[in-house]
Amino acid sequence: MTEPTPPSRFYVTTPIYYVNDEAHIGHAYTTTLADVLRGYHRIMGEETFFLTGLDEHGQKVQQAADKLGITPQEHCDRMAPRFQALWEKMGIVPDDFVRTTEPRHKAIVTDILQRIWDKGLIYDATYEGWYEVSEERFLTDKEIEEKGYTKDSPEISFIKEKNYFFKMSAYQDWLIEHIQSHPDFIRPESRKNEILGFLRQPLGDLCISRPKSRLSWGIELPFDKDYVTYVWFDALINYISVHLDRGGEAELQKWWPNSLHLIGKDILTTHCVYWTTMLQAAGYTQPKTILAHGWWLLDSAKMSKSKGNVVKPLDLMDKYGVDAFRYFLIRDMTLGLDSNFSEKALVERINSDLANDFGNLLNRTLNLLKRNFEGVIPSPGEKGELEIELETLGQQTIANVKALVLDFKLHAALEDTLQLVRRANKYMEQTAPWKTAKTDLPRTGTILWHVLEIFRLAAALLAPVIPGKIADLLDQLGLEPSALKLEWGILPPGTQTHEPRVLFPRQEFKTEEEKMLTESPIETTPTPPAATPAATNPSPAGSPAVNAEENGANLLIGIEDFAKVELRVAQIQEAERVPKTDKLMRLIVDLGGETRQIVAGIAAFYSPEQLLGKKVIVVANLKPAKLRGLESRGMLLAAKNETQFSILTLLDDVAPGARVS
Ligand code: MSP
Repeated sequence: MTEPTPPSRFYVTTPIYYVNDEAHIGHAYTTTLADVLRGYHRIMGEETFFLTGLDEHGQKVQQAADKLGITPQEHCDRMAPRFQALWEKMGIVPDDFVRTTEPRHKAIVTDILQRIWDKGLIYDATYEGWYEVSEERFLTDKEIEEKGYTKDSPEISFIKEKNYFFKMSAYQDWLIEHIQSHPDFIRPESRKNEILGFLRQPLGDLCISRPKSRLSWGIELPFDKDYVTYVWFDALINYISVHLDRGGEAELQKWWPNSLHLIGKDILTTHCVYWTTMLQAAGYTQPKTILAHGWWLLDSAKMSKSKGNVVKPLDLMDKYGVDAFRYFLIRDMTLGLDSNFSEKALVERINSDLANDFGNLLNRTLNLLKRNFEGVIPSPGEKGELEIELETLGQQTIANVKALVLDFKLHAALEDTLQLVRRANKYMEQTAPWKTAKTDLPRTGTILWHVLEIFRLAAALLAPVIPGKIADLLDQLGLEPSALKLEWGILPPGTQTHEPRVLFPRQEFKTEEEKMLTESPIETTPTPPAATPAATNPSPAGSPAVNAEENGANLLIGIEDFAKVELRVAQIQEAERVPKTDKLMRLIVDLGGETRQIVAGIAAFYSPEQLLGKKVIVVANLKPAKLRGLESRGMLLAAKNETQFSILTLLDDVAPGARVS
């Protein structure tokens, strides 16, 4: 009998984040990425371990605690739960969460320092240089120049003191050789070249201590109690300290050969040079891969606290939902490159991929199933050419997604998955099951089974990215989580599906200009203006203004309020789209002897030709407003709900200018 081969394993880490920082999109991104990769590896049948945590030592933390008049540990304990709460909110459950102030981590750091000291690889010397607290490191003259600092800049301070140094320089040749002989060690290629470029200069030694007289918040050096360990030397060890503490060398060896460090491109040197040489000196092997991702940029500028343009992930998740947000992060960044973040792009992605292609088809299919099969999944009958093509595509997609995930091309893995869903959409159009249902029920069953099987498979392929929505989808399909397998053809006929629900509602994004449209009465909604500003229409008891849905009383207006609105019949004489927007239409209307220009947000619903000559209702006594530099004098009335939109017009012919009351 042959031994069963143990499952292959996957160990993924994020950087441990500075406990002091406000959580931002950078943190959310790397942690989501780690969670998604773990999800894909799990679904591929591997045993996985996902580690994240917090970097809690260093000058920044000490300074912040001093300011607050509390101990650094108290400060860390206050700050740490915010990160944990964010991961919980994002549905992210790491296998361990390390904090560098925990005794288990400190013990391993101490042990490793002692080992390297015992090997004679640490020495003391006087050091002088410029230290930048925000980055917790000494800067070279070149870096000072690049950052535009002068000797008087408050960000840096000149320090001259005795310190301990790690003989990093001894490992330069070894490191170059290791990088060159392990093509997967530093990814992507551009970052590998960056490090090889860096290593063309002589590599210095690394200052790994801080005297307690200057900074006491850190792990004490085992060989000099007047010093603490440099924060990076301490933090990097987290990647192994957790396993060494859990089960010694054996536990570490279980995970280490298949390890992946996810980092942002700004912490490439600390990982590829400091960490690798530290490991080598301490007698450990190297991680398998260090993958540096790019940055999310806002309006093409690096997001930073000092610029005040940090997109708050929590805010956007509340607005659009955790899964949609996760999907966007993974779909819209090519691993390794920078990507532009915009709320508009997020909404477009949600609408195109999730609401239209995915959600809509699911809804249509489940409704057809309900109408024709009482919601029970039918058996597939004889397969035709189209069904064979679908099956082939399903199998190809499984293989492609696996390969793309292993190559860190997650955006492409999602695109491939969505292509499969789009193919199912086309299949529906080609086979028209709503028509065959009238004549050929078994054929209709075959069609619906195939579309639903694509959904089941797409669900398995999307579960790592949108786990919450996939759980909802499984519930609608009446399936168990065990149905999420990367195989074709396992959808069980006879399953009773449940009531269809909208998975991803269409979202609406308004630019500042469009918000103005909604707030000013030029927006084409038929809301009576008097009902909108609750503040000008306070409730009689003087209670705080609440929105109309919460308090129906706010909707009640007197006839005298309504009489203030001058509604008139107008005839559209000219219509053209406003360039560079897909929403606005410029209209010239005849108000009975008077022509006016109105800019209306209707271009997504009508073409100019459809509008010419139409008689519409306009609010004629609105204050003029400017949109895209065009004056607009009036508002068209229209009816709309989530899916429909119609401009109000007249049943019988009435001359332009007539009053509407
Ligand atoms: N504490 C160190 C890491 C020690 S690991 C042993 C640290 N912490 S951090 O809180 O500053 O980490 C920030 C991480 O988020 C980095 O990987 C950084 O690249 C990433 N990002 C910060 N802003 C970012 C964006 N705008 N976009 C994407 N990621 C960026 O460094």
